[in-house]
Amino acid sequence: MINVSENEKEERADRIVTAEETEEERAGSFEGLRPKSLDEFIGQRKIKENLKVFIEAARKRNEPLDHVLLYGPPGLGKTTLAHIIAREMGANIRITSGPAIERPGDLAAILTNIKEGDVIFIDEIHRLSHVVEEVMYPAMEDYEIDIIIGKGPSARSIRLELPKFTLVGATTRAGLLTSPLRDRFGMSMRFDFYEPRDLKTIIDRSASILGVELSEDGSMEIAKRSRGTPRIANRLLRRVRDFASVGNKKVIDREIVNDSLNRLDVDYLGLDGMDRRILKKIVKDFDGGPVGAETLAVTVSEEVETIEDVYEPYLIQIGFINRTPRGRMSTKAAVEHLQRMKEI
Ligand SMILES: Nc1ncnc2c1ncn2[C@@H]1O[C@H](COP(=O)(O)OP(=O)(O)O)[C@@H](O)[C@H]1O
Ligand SMILES: [Mg+2]
Repeated sequence: MINVSENEKEERADRIVTAEETEEERAGSFEGLRPKSLDEFIGQRKIKENLKVFIEAARKRNEPLDHVLLYGPPGLGKTTLAHIIAREMGANIRITSGPAIERPGDLAAILTNIKEGDVIFIDEIHRLSHVVEEVMYPAMEDYEIDIIIGKGPSARSIRLELPKFTLVGATTRAGLLTSPLRDRFGMSMRFDFYEPRDLKTIIDRSASILGVELSEDGSMEIAKRSRGTPRIANRLLRRVRDFASVGNKKVIDREIVNDSLNRLDVDYLGLDGMDRRILKKIVKDFDGGPVGAETLAVTVSEEVETIEDVYEPYLIQIGFINRTPRGRMSTKAAVEHLQRMKEI
């Protein structure tokens, strides 16, 4: 693990195209934009179609939905969908995360306080500790947990029956899940980056909620620069709105979007200085690669997890980086982009 200085961390938190939640967003600045039903949830057609069927079937049988694993890069709608699942099932949702459940007792406290049919949402489920996972297995499979009462020689274990519940787990790192845990999910749903067309629909919906007037080409331009990610689309919309209101523009068109986003260093593909720095390192310093993720992380002063979770997925998606067994390699398209941006 390398140390990232506080300064660099701050810089990263300010990064306008980060797919991770900002401080402000965590505090709820986007709450009003979250879709509340499956019908309002745009894109991810396959996930939606499957869920519709399973939810309807479970409701018909009057049973809780099977456990669901949601995985994919940040900002694509995993948390949003977890809430929607609970709502569509007419169930309560309990929200927690892998790192928040430190000891088996923490999990027991949650599980013994639920009602039949409740949804338990565990974000970052790949970060559950081993001992907690062990408790999770029988809970998921048979709705039972063993809890230990007392200490030392007089300690004994008792088995508790739990109400039937649905576990919804979310992770950006499905590969880090142990197989016993993964196997206990009845369904596993992978989120893909959104097409510009779907992002445009999301942006238009957000604009109407926020009372922002947006032209067709303005909306499409934001969509194209949002790296396939609804969280970024909503954020760019709000920043562009600020520029427009300062410039006294009533309708946001393509020109205003271009001006604002160029000023924020978000290029026409949605890449920012950090993305291009990563590309430039591979292309120039490592001669196109292959270069290991660890080495790459050190040269751009970033943590390897961040490179892998936040930057790489989109650069791979647009065909700028290839992941090979020997490391990352840049592509011809990446070189051409850097040339076009006059960075090499
Ligand atoms: N399919 C979608 N349709 C409309 N808005 C979406 C969709 N998916 C995500 N969003 C928006 O993007 C934001 C980020 O989604 P979130 O569920 O928090 O992502 P994740 O949990 O995968 O990081 C939400 O505030 C929501 O408004
Ligand atoms: Mg989330």
